[in-house]
Amino acid sequence: MCGIVGYAGRNAAAPVLIESLKKLEYRGYDSAGITVLGSGIETYKAVGKIINLESETPKNLGGTVGIGHTRWATHGRPSTENAHPHNSGGNPEKISIVHNGIIENYMALKERLIGEGYVFKSETDTEVIAHLLHKHIYGRPDGKEAQCELLAGLREALKEIEGSYALAILSADEPGKLVLARKDSPLVIGLGRGENFAGSDVTAFLNYTRDVIFVNDFETVVLSPVGVEIFDREGNLREKKIEKIEWDFEAAEKAGYEHFMLKEIHEQVSAIHDTLVGKVSELEGAIHLNELNLSEDEIKKLSRVQILACGTSWHAGLLGKYLFEQLAGIHCDIDICSEYRYRNPVMNDGTLAIAITQSGETADTLAAVREIMSYNCPTLAITNVVGSTITREANSVLYTRAGPEIGVAATKTFSTQLTLLYLLAVKFALVRGKLSPDYVKSFITELRKVPGEIQQILNQKEAIKECAENFARSNSYFFLGRHLNYPIALEGALKLKEISYVHAEGFAAGELKHGPIALLDEGTPVVAIATRGQTYDKMLSNIKEVKARDAYVIAVADSKDTEIGKYADIVLRVPQSNELLAPLLSVVVLQLLAYYTALARDCSIDKPRNLAKSVTVE
Ligand code: F6R
Repeated sequence: MCGIVGYAGRNAAAPVLIESLKKLEYRGYDSAGITVLGSGIETYKAVGKIINLESETPKNLGGTVGIGHTRWATHGRPSTENAHPHNSGGNPEKISIVHNGIIENYMALKERLIGEGYVFKSETDTEVIAHLLHKHIYGRPDGKEAQCELLAGLREALKEIEGSYALAILSADEPGKLVLARKDSPLVIGLGRGENFAGSDVTAFLNYTRDVIFVNDFETVVLSPVGVEIFDREGNLREKKIEKIEWDFEAAEKAGYEHFMLKEIHEQVSAIHDTLVGKVSELEGAIHLNELNLSEDEIKKLSRVQILACGTSWHAGLLGKYLFEQLAGIHCDIDICSEYRYRNPVMNDGTLAIAITQSGETADTLAAVREIMSYNCPTLAITNVVGSTITREANSVLYTRAGPEIGVAATKTFSTQLTLLYLLAVKFALVRGKLSPDYVKSFITELRKVPGEIQQILNQKEAIKECAENFARSNSYFFLGRHLNYPIALEGALKLKEISYVHAEGFAAGELKHGPIALLDEGTPVVAIATRGQTYDKMLSNIKEVKARDAYVIAVADSKDTEIGKYADIVLRVPQSNELLAPLLSVVVLQLLAYYTALARDCSIDKPRNLAKSVTVE
């Protein structure tokens, strides 16, 4: 995830900025850059490690005010042009800017600014802000005389921007200070003596100070060596509380969470929201997937979708199969990549291959994609990593906007993969006339509610923790689900086994009586995913079968379900939602169940034994 830093002090800014950027490395990045305000705006950028930026930057660079950025590509591949800071004003540059967040209306703004004569050097959404700001202050691309101050220009520019941002900005005409702004992206100020700092999180400047101010949405900040002024939306000066940070570095990297996995489970709220940005229009009942590279006619002619994935991504794909068939009426096959490679597949005309891989580097997935592409089959990749190998091989790419996932067990990448699969299936259904725009409108409304519903589950995580602690010593767990909840049962079992080393099996609940039921014993914990839907009654029957074998039933059910409590021993609730979307909620409960079980068993949660984040060998 991108990180921003800022410094205004009495020391040379460049080494402080570079050290601060190194502290943000844990967030993941592909390129980095700084601007220092010396005799003018001086910007240095490099792809790859911060050390590359360090060697790009002159050793005795003057200037005691500056901004810096680690970029994790979202709009545009990793490159020096796309790395921040982005500048505006030409020769000499007037404005320099770093940004963390996503500007949703950047395409419309970009077109307008190009029309007004601004020249873009990058593919990023951020460069739009640099030029927009320049326009507000200097009036036109070659304007050299400021018509208003940086802060006033920024306030005007922000009125036009839709999306999320934490911004740090320098102006060549206003030396000795930097200006910052925040909406929906983190921003924190560090208070030193004769120097002040800014960062995406406190790790950026914990070496220098522990006195911090957290900036709120819609606040703007003027930071100089001698002071920090914070203004509200209307421009009134605000009194802000100074807080003392007691965390050590390790705790600060995790924003106070005990593990990255727990942090990432919580980040699903923003990750799903970010993945939807710019892709759904509630008003029109439309889904915009321009990256798809398929015309409406081609979508209509599709006869088959072939999904290729491994592990957790395969579970996302399995849910995708149900969606493509049920909603869009397209036949869908799903294969585990290591099997697909060797099974001499029979190909049909009109097949679209969808490869799902959070890392974009899984060797088996890449090999399966090469195999299917050898049949001239168009291939769409769903991945979280811009510039990963799969993005260079597939014909088109849809990105999950989950931000870097550091915990080995996939959590937020899974739920954002599901989010994209929902969008794809609904889009195909709409184009093929299987769903009406009115249905799609209400579906989008429901989908947009999911982040808030996940937050409600997170607010009640203590109940899940208590449940996990009760069964932490069990030797074996079972997970049951039907229909859309079946892939979630598989995922729940995988999460539990990979981080807590407990034996766990996921089953289609109807399969239980065809063998696995023999394994049930007194007190065996059986997690039954029983949210309301077309298979709910069947699920109740399965729960009764399990109870009759004296197993212990932990049901995951809707908040309004008053029946389930008669049969299950424990009920973990999720908000009542659209039946199709309930998997996005149930999976959060299962992720937390796995997490707290592993915690109670004192396991290495972020780096489980024998596992790697990307599996680059066959
Ligand atoms: C489980 C997990 C793995 C991956 C699998 C595929 O938590 O992360 O099962 O899903 O190794 O990885 P990607 O999605 O990178 O292809």
